[in-house]
Amino acid sequence: MRVPVAVKVGAFALVVMGTYTYYANSIPQIQSKPPAELSLEGGNVTPAQLVKAGEEIFHTKGTCEICHRIGQKGTRAPDLAGIGARAGKTKPGMSAKQYIIESLLQPGAYIVEGYPNIMPQVDKPPIALNRSELWALVAFLESLGGNVDVTLDDIPKTAGAAAAGGAAVEIKIPGDPKAGEVVFTTKGGCIACHKAGKIGASPVGPDLSQIAKIQTPDYIMKKILDPAGSGTVAGFPKGVMPPMFGQTLTAKEYVDLVAFLMTLK
Ligand code: HEC
Ligand code: HEC
Repeated sequence: MRVPVAVKVGAFALVVMGTYTYYANSIPQIQSKPPAELSLEGGNVTPAQLVKAGEEIFHTKGTCEICHRIGQKGTRAPDLAGIGARAGKTKPGMSAKQYIIESLLQPGAYIVEGYPNIMPQVDKPPIALNRSELWALVAFLESLGGNVDVTLDDIPKTAGAAAAGGAAVEIKIPGDPKAGEVVFTTKGGCIACHKAGKIGASPVGPDLSQIAKIQTPDYIMKKILDPAGSGTVAGFPKGVMPPMFGQTLTAKEYVDLVAFLMTLK
């Protein structure tokens, strides 16, 4: 007797991870919505569906728009209009697909002229896209002026591994975010140049309201101690962020400040 195939795996299974330990363990004061995970493994997906799913990820979970705009310059990151066409000409011997995949998984491998090396690896926290999501995202980027030819096999098996199964380990900042907010507004003087959620309004430096969504604690910690060492955020003046916080802040103030910044998402 043949066993009927009872269940056909849907092409777009949207799996909501109820308890996603990475978010749950991070900053207790912040109630983050558990992120939805897209799984396309084993599904029959048309290129058009893939591009649509990728576009959605670009605007939502990918957080790409906090840095990149399509058809708009002057932001933290390059305008991605036409990336599907130009990606094949950027690095000799590399196809558009290969360049786009490298841009997402190893952003530092090629630095677009005029920009600092500050793009996070998008398969690692805080963005932490899985393989299906990377696949869709590459298809979307290819569709911006190029041909959609990416397959799931093009995405390295190791990509997004940390995100799968909630195994991602987030560095837990031991500081007190409330005390850190006070450092931000008083002794640190950060508020003179930065907006941070409900507080501040200065446009001198980048708006930090969503900094923890797009950057690692490591980047934030280094930026405070050595602003120039991480490069200058595009669209902002060089040498304006003071370099002496490592001397003026106590260790506790520094850790509290970082803990506060990690709540900004
Ligand atoms: C923190 C800001 C930031 C975030 C978030 C970010 N990027 Fe970037 N990205 C950059 C910067 C800055 C560059 C240019 C420097 C470089 O080449 O690494 C860049 C470069 C790129 C490039 C190469 C562009 C070119 O013209 O060659 C691609 C493609 C790209 N990003 C895609 C994405 C996608 C897709 C996302 C969302 C999943 C994303 N980025 C998220 C900052 C960011
Ligand atoms: C006098 C103005 C000024 C003060 C004060 C200042 N910053 Fe900045 N900050 C800037 C500017 C301008 C940039 C963007 C240029 C750059 O990268 O150096 C920046 C960049 C940053 C970034 C990177 C943002 C991103 O989008 O990648 C972080 C994080 C940051 N500042 C945190 C702080 C903190 C925390 C303090 C207080 C301890 C502080 N800043 C004080 C001007 C300032």
